[in-house]
Amino acid sequence: MTATPTSRAKLPLLVLGQGTDLHTERGVECPGDLPPASDPGLVERARAAKAALGDRVFVLGHHYQRDEVIEFADTTGDSFKLAKEAAARPDAPWIVFCGVHFMAESADILTSDEQTVILPDLAAGCSMADMATMDQVEDCWDDLVDAGIADRVVPVTYMNSSAAIKAFTGRHGGTICTSSNAKTALTWALDQAGDGGKVLFLPDQHLGRNTYARDLGRPLEDCVVWDPHRPMGGLTKEQLDAATMILWRGHCSVHGRFSVEAVEAARREIPDVKVIVHPECRYEVVELADEVGSTEKIIKTIAAAPAGTKWVVGTELNLVRRLGQQFPDQQISFLEKNVCYCSTMNRIDLPHLVWALESLVEGRVVNPIRVDPQVAHDAKVALDRMLALPGETHKD
Ligand code: 13P
Ligand code: SF4
Repeated sequence: MTATPTSRAKLPLLVLGQGTDLHTERGVECPGDLPPASDPGLVERARAAKAALGDRVFVLGHHYQRDEVIEFADTTGDSFKLAKEAAARPDAPWIVFCGVHFMAESADILTSDEQTVILPDLAAGCSMADMATMDQVEDCWDDLVDAGIADRVVPVTYMNSSAAIKAFTGRHGGTICTSSNAKTALTWALDQAGDGGKVLFLPDQHLGRNTYARDLGRPLEDCVVWDPHRPMGGLTKEQLDAATMILWRGHCSVHGRFSVEAVEAARREIPDVKVIVHPECRYEVVELADEVGSTEKIIKTIAAAPAGTKWVVGTELNLVRRLGQQFPDQQISFLEKNVCYCSTMNRIDLPHLVWALESLVEGRVVNPIRVDPQVAHDAKVALDRMLALPGETHKD
């Protein structure tokens, strides 16, 4: 059947560049003069603009960013580290966030009102974050109220979510987590929920399942998947009553593609190989891996390994390629031949960075990320709970 424009509009993901979707900010125009990617002077222009701005600008770069962007980052990190780094720079009036939209929103929430967070390309969203809309989450909560269990449910929301859903989490006694502290966050939430209590984990079903079953060693059978496109999430009252983990039906379109077959092939083809993957990968894949962790943990684990170690890495390709360059004495390969870059992370390129920096030099703030104050207040409650988790430091 050929998809009509109407049916296409209902899909959670839009093909980049086709149509517009103001909710996800895809299809936005880049106002002003974006330098052409072919401009041979781009590196020099970025250097000059950064030098002119000095300490007034702080550039954060997520590990999935392109090399050409990472070169200009004052610090790099996973989403947890970057959130903390943003909060630790109260003197920089401008934070240029080279990452995706939910990360820039979190930075805006954690920085002062005098600071402005800038996302060089507003089309840098996250397909996983788009898989849970505020309306869907509110409908889900209403259903849990109707089922008589909402008062026993504590939400745990992955950083990869909109500020509005973080705010919902704050209002309902829950916490945010990232891939580097999901185990601590989930332990805290299960404790808060008490005997017979439940966790609503959103939006990444894989991180929720991996943390519960693999990291905490609890039974997979305790998990049910809430499908936001079906009445009552596609679950019966009995299933909800019996469950401890209600996993939102969301996933990462990049990490969801790493397969069991690829892990098995790597083990067949590379003797003594070590497989390291991100916890957004599917449970079956994570179960077969030697190591699992956030982007920061992946880097630190490889950095600490002896020369000659053979790695197959299941995470985004920009990071894996860079690891290969940074650790030439180790053998580093990419887990899945059919997986490509995170297309939204890749939206931030040198032309957009130069445009954002040069605009600041000219006194123009482009692409500011400003979260509504009430949403920011409630979301900060949930983010602060994460930052105050027992023993929470940046371990990974
Ligand atoms: P990290 O927090 O591990 O950097 O992960 C963020 C992300 O979006 C992974 O897909
Ligand atoms: Fe989102 Fe996946 Fe890209 Fe991470 S890799 S930003 S989860 S789409």
